[in-house]
Amino acid sequence: MTQAYAFDAYGTLFDVHAAASRFSAEIGPQFERMSQIWRQKHLEYTWIHAQTQRPISFWRLTERSLDYAVSSIGGVPAGVREKLLGAYRQMAAFPEVAVMLAQLKARGIKVAILSNGDPDMLEDAVSGAGLAGMFDVVLSVQAAGVFKPDRRVYQLASDRLGASPGDVTFLSSNRWDIAGAHVFGFKTIWVNRTAAPDEYPDMQPDQTVRDLTAVTVAC
Ligand code: LAC
Repeated sequence: MTQAYAFDAYGTLFDVHAAASRFSAEIGPQFERMSQIWRQKHLEYTWIHAQTQRPISFWRLTERSLDYAVSSIGGVPAGVREKLLGAYRQMAAFPEVAVMLAQLKARGIKVAILSNGDPDMLEDAVSGAGLAGMFDVVLSVQAAGVFKPDRRVYQLASDRLGASPGDVTFLSSNRWDIAGAHVFGFKTIWVNRTAAPDEYPDMQPDQTVRDLTAVTVAC
């Protein structure tokens, strides 16, 4: 029986708001708002492209959502757009991630990423955060031809890991992603980093944690 842990990438392993924080002085006082709009629009675009069956790269949507967010705050100085996009490809991992992954591997658990990110984006993120070699499988939804939470995405992970859904624990900071994974049949852990209120009452996680330290402790 293969036991596997599959992680969402952006916001779960990697700090998706680090890019805007890094250039906050150049963006100005609305940098946090801009970052929230960027993230929210990015996700919305994936849902609309999935629902309308219009495949597109996650990177293209990274650019489009950033452009929307920048317009929403009335623009940013020249060159900042490119700096933000560059930072998106080299995101820091949250501080507890490396130790937690090492603990899982030491227990013989298969460790994977399952992300909307394009394969080259995920490669940059993993190596940029110093996590190369820590994952048994790095899976982009591109292989399924659709974004989360389409069930084909979770099926892809189950197939590639060689694990039945009930033997896969899926971890995400996105509550909607947890809902999709739960419906598919994964065990789920919601990484509620922002202490957000719960939602989707009929699609509940098996466990909720504040960050991934709790996963290390459970090892
Ligand atoms: C991902 C986004 C949804 O990594 O966080 O798939």
